[in-house]
Amino acid sequence: MTIPAYKDPARSVTERIDDLLSRMSLKEKAGQLNQWYNLGPEHYDQVRKGEIGSGLLANSSTAGNDHQERVFANSINEIQKIAVTESRLGIPLIFGRDVIHGYRTVAPIPLGMAAAWSPELIQAANAIAAKEARADGIHWGFSPMLDIARDPRWGRVAEGFGEDPFLAGKLAAAAVKGFQGNDQDSIPQQFAADRIVACAKHFVGYGAAEGGRDYNTTEITRQALHNVYLAPFKAAIQSGCATVMSAFHDIGGIPLSAHRYLLTDVLKEQWGFGGFIVSDWGAVWELINHGVAADRSRAAELACKAGVDMDMCSMVYLENLPDLVQAGKLSAARLDDAVRRLLRIKFALGLFENPYADPNASQAVHLLPESLATLRRLAADSMVLLKNNGVLPLRSDKLAICLSGPLADRRKELFGCWTPDGQEEEVTTLKEAIAGRLGPETWLHHYELPDDAVKLARSSDVLILAIGESAGRSGEDNCTATIDLPAGQEALLESARRMEIPIVAVVFGGRPLNLTRVMDWADAVLFAWHPGITGGLGVADVLFGDVNPSGRLPISFPRSSGQIPLYYNHRPTGRPMPANSRRHSRYVDSLDSPLFPFGFGLSYTTFEYGNLQTSQVPQTPEILVSAEVTNTGNRAGTTVAQCYVRDIVASVARPVRELKGFERVTLEAGETKTIAFRLGPKELSYLDDNGNEVFEAGRYRVWIGSDSNAELGTEFEISTDGR
Ligand code: BGC
Repeated sequence: MTIPAYKDPARSVTERIDDLLSRMSLKEKAGQLNQWYNLGPEHYDQVRKGEIGSGLLANSSTAGNDHQERVFANSINEIQKIAVTESRLGIPLIFGRDVIHGYRTVAPIPLGMAAAWSPELIQAANAIAAKEARADGIHWGFSPMLDIARDPRWGRVAEGFGEDPFLAGKLAAAAVKGFQGNDQDSIPQQFAADRIVACAKHFVGYGAAEGGRDYNTTEITRQALHNVYLAPFKAAIQSGCATVMSAFHDIGGIPLSAHRYLLTDVLKEQWGFGGFIVSDWGAVWELINHGVAADRSRAAELACKAGVDMDMCSMVYLENLPDLVQAGKLSAARLDDAVRRLLRIKFALGLFENPYADPNASQAVHLLPESLATLRRLAADSMVLLKNNGVLPLRSDKLAICLSGPLADRRKELFGCWTPDGQEEEVTTLKEAIAGRLGPETWLHHYELPDDAVKLARSSDVLILAIGESAGRSGEDNCTATIDLPAGQEALLESARRMEIPIVAVVFGGRPLNLTRVMDWADAVLFAWHPGITGGLGVADVLFGDVNPSGRLPISFPRSSGQIPLYYNHRPTGRPMPANSRRHSRYVDSLDSPLFPFGFGLSYTTFEYGNLQTSQVPQTPEILVSAEVTNTGNRAGTTVAQCYVRDIVASVARPVRELKGFERVTLEAGETKTIAFRLGPKELSYLDDNGNEVFEAGRYRVWIGSDSNAELGTEFEISTDGR
């Protein structure tokens, strides 16, 4: 008996897709584009009829109280078997899940990962997440989230890489490669068995939600869209990201899940994206709530025509696409295009040959010691030292430590948002991490109650206060009206301050918080984000100096909520912000600058930048800019050298500074290294309203230094032809 061409692995993927498409009914095509969640026995019949093409695993991955018992693989296999053996064409399902920062070995939140400014570590962390998730039967992770966010009240700021499109773009590319394992900058022809499909989300501009309120409407100019919000998505697509998720919100009245210009003209046509677009959860159906579709049929029509290929959890594609094609409202070619895009990924995953998960695979790959070690390093490298008057690092041989604060002995709170696969009991708390490394003459006293802690701090050498946000206070649907610390925490610090012993504030959080008071009252401040399963250990590594902190803020920290939005790469005004002058862009009741600028972070040593040089790279329109960086302190350390550029005069006002290069540089005490960045048309151009590169000759200013306030700068002139 001959097997159909689409089942024959010896055929090319195009042949297989063509053959399969030619056999599919309209209903089966619509079924492929229908994703539904938590598939169970009640869905078997629909799967049998070919009405579901993808499963979204939104439930817990463990059974009962026994966290060792992984149930995913078995339940996935049960339903997959129905798709493969009982449906007419036997097309396997693709299973997706929110693998956001790590899987069972939970990594720091993405905003924390970004603070390490290390594409290599992000790639490594996502490779670990991919391996663990795939072992549980998951094919597709709904990340990286690439929403540039300039408003820290928005809870989902935790899930992204911060405020800068260049940094986010570099990290996006690394995140994608970590998941997918591609070394080429294109969608893999074949995914390895320990990799998963990435999904760049939420396309696009979701982070600009008005008032920092989730799902809210946005107004974004074409300039900002192309130069800021789209940039990290472009980087992800250019590194081979196989799927994209269309967002919930609207820009200027056009909901993203019906935004033809962005989904089709820009993403699919201008950028040549060959993967598929899935809507966010229910976002196609929500076109009715947005007021652009009168009913479910029209919602399906708008989304499919705009470019959404798969409908996440509204069922409107399944219900309506066949009729829309038959009524001539939607072209059969567009429906086929959507199905082709999806099938391409199913073939690349090898699902037709290997549809099932191995129920015994996870034990061998979850929580491996080397995975824990990588994530401990990432956690430690992500921490940003914001203040240190000399109290850190702590000596571990002879010290009486008093530890308090609401997060001192918490497990789940170190995870942060979106950790459906993390197991609380596998986390080391900060208290345990500190206790685990005490010398014979070191004492640790932990007090839950603030009054006890304050009283007994007096007989200690140092008070460590673990404060900040709980895990559940950031992430989706967790927006705050202010960025102030949760109730009572400033009061705790203030009363502790009266004891006149050194205070180290370790601040956990999923967003920039208002630390103005903390800076006044603490002797050292370490911002630890939500650092994941090894986060307590990572904090201890930094507190005791095993790791010299090198994290740098991927987002500005305002002095107060009233300054929001506040970001370093803003445009100049006609009346810039000089000190002490009137009728300029400023506040009368607050300083204008942030409390900490983008890129900021201290170390236990000091670095100095000097000898900035520029030179033209012969016969190219590129400039080489270099500087020397010296470790001027007395211990080895790592700095993140940052290169910023300003286009002084252009056809449109360009930002006062933009990051265009960065490099982590590790130096022994006293050591000097020269670092160099190449600035060419790619770095120096901007995008016009249609997304075309505009490279203008003229004068530019460049700075190299340790944060976005770097002062070491010079100007250079560039001509477009390189002379
Ligand atoms: C979120 C997405 C997520 C999806 C699936 C939505 O509510 O916005 O980020 O991937 O749910 O769980």
